[in-house]
Amino acid sequence: MSTIADGPDTSLMRKAYARWAPIYDIVYDGLTASARRDAVAAALACGNKVLEAGVGTGLSLGDYPAQANVIGFDISEHMLLRAQDKVAKHKLSHVRLLTVMDACRLGFPDAAFDAVVAQFLITLVPHPERALDEFLRVLRPGGEIILANHFGVDDGPIARAEEAVAPAVRKLGWSSAFKTRRIETWAEQHPAASLVEVRPAFPLGFFKIIRVRKVG
Ligand SMILES: C[S@@+](CC[C@H](N)C(=O)[O-])C[C@H]1O[C@@H](n2cnc3c(N)ncnc32)[C@H](O)[C@@H]1O
Repeated sequence: MSTIADGPDTSLMRKAYARWAPIYDIVYDGLTASARRDAVAAALACGNKVLEAGVGTGLSLGDYPAQANVIGFDISEHMLLRAQDKVAKHKLSHVRLLTVMDACRLGFPDAAFDAVVAQFLITLVPHPERALDEFLRVLRPGGEIILANHFGVDDGPIARAEEAVAPAVRKLGWSSAFKTRRIETWAEQHPAASLVEVRPAFPLGFFKIIRVRKVG
């Protein structure tokens, strides 16, 4: 498997996920399954050519049907090796390529995909707007960026509840510091991006699905 030249941001992330890789599925599979399925359904509504950004151990790859055409990338080769094992074990022939890549520097041409799915990724990227710019670039007009993640809310009782549970959920790698508003602001400022929806997902809206369409 190929590797990439590390910057300071990416090398820390790669070290962290080298440690997470052996236990990732045990911790996250059940928790994220419902949101993952929602995200995959939203992507397939756009078409079959899907880019799975930060595909990790490939938990969502089995949710795509045989006629899909899925390319996945991740910054961690340790996570990707587990995704490759799933592809081989379950004969997921719709997965055309798994490769090491940084979300902020995609090696794909413009307008190559119907949908870019980023599940539990965007809040980890040090420059999320750069990644969103790249996702938009590789989408065809009318295609969508689908984000599945925990995003914090700005204020009100839910924001206070998030603060109360913050120490516990931080242990699982989730922070409420990254607000939905940040994605909305990026979309407002980008002429080719249109926010379609912010939808609560299981459990109880803790995860959200955000859809952004490429216009023009
Ligand atoms: C929380 S895991 C989510 C994995 C998978 N999407 C899922 O839902 O199970 C986050 C993944 O993002 C990857 N990642 C973090 N920063 C990245 C970046 N800049 N570019 C590509 N992948 C990145 C990590 O290596 C890790 O596999």
